[in-house]
Amino acid sequence: MTTAIRPATGARQQALVEGEFLFTNDDFLSIARMLYDDAGIALTESKASLVYSRLAKRLRALGLESFRDYCKFVGGSEGVGERQNMLAALTTNVTRYFREPHHFEHLKTRVLPELATRARARGRVRIWSAGCSTGQEPYSIALTLLDILPDAAQYDVRILATDIDPNVVATGRAGVYSDEAVQPVPTALRDRWMVRVKDGARDAWGAGEEMRRLVSFRELNLMGNWPMKGRFDAIFCRNVVIYFDEATQARIWARFGPLLNPGGRLYVGHSERVTDMARFETDGLTTYRLRDGVR
Ligand SMILES: C[S@@+](CC[C@H](N)C(=O)[O-])C[C@H]1O[C@@H](n2cnc3c(N)ncnc32)[C@H](O)[C@@H]1O
Repeated sequence: MTTAIRPATGARQQALVEGEFLFTNDDFLSIARMLYDDAGIALTESKASLVYSRLAKRLRALGLESFRDYCKFVGGSEGVGERQNMLAALTTNVTRYFREPHHFEHLKTRVLPELATRARARGRVRIWSAGCSTGQEPYSIALTLLDILPDAAQYDVRILATDIDPNVVATGRAGVYSDEAVQPVPTALRDRWMVRVKDGARDAWGAGEEMRRLVSFRELNLMGNWPMKGRFDAIFCRNVVIYFDEATQARIWARFGPLLNPGGRLYVGHSERVTDMARFETDGLTTYRLRDGVR
């Protein structure tokens, strides 16, 4: 846990955040502990108002009167489902198509040419989007791949897209995005690989058949077991570990190593750094390559 979460002192019933429901420091600590244990996310006290506003809706929906009752409920055996809702409410899912575009340029020019040759020779190609949120990241990988290997879906090429939050996984699987969300997608790629669909009454863009065939969405907690057996050629884990403490981040980097093929790449978010330089070498901006002879 980060040192920023201090044990409660004195006035235990004092409100940490003023509002409709009593929310004390003890309640905050209890929620922070559950989030850390379940997802590795380290909440600092500066997030107290955010926690209050995101969870107040849950209290209302459940007809509860205080955060103390809510903590008791989610901490007990009957609150297992609600604990999942709590987690979903507290994770940050911000994402967009071609976010941090230099990674997709690197993938296209430095990584995919060799992988395309391997795929055409009937070899296996795997890319993992770990912490994929609502799917824009794995679909951006798919579009980059289709751009240089238009028949990629015919080969043994797959993108695994995983996230802890079942709601965002479902959105990714549905693969329907507003015009605004699709704006960063180059028009030529959008028109070739995406399809016009309806989202309720509105026109929207849907991931086309080839994009869908390339991407498999699964629920997966990076803190838990990883059931994947085969290795990946690239892992995108961007803007996910920023919410973890340093020890947890280091454990994640160490677990990625054995899952990468020789020379495999690891892409991280703009404010994240891989510290395990015995295993990885820098290969561009927030881009790392598994060192030769290392697992
Ligand atoms: C800010 S989004 C980043 C999405 C995408 N990678 C990007 O850079 O645009 C962070 C995602 O990490 C997921 N996440 C947080 N903790 C996780 C964990 N322990 N295991 C798996 N996913 C997690 C969240 O649910 C969220 O969808």
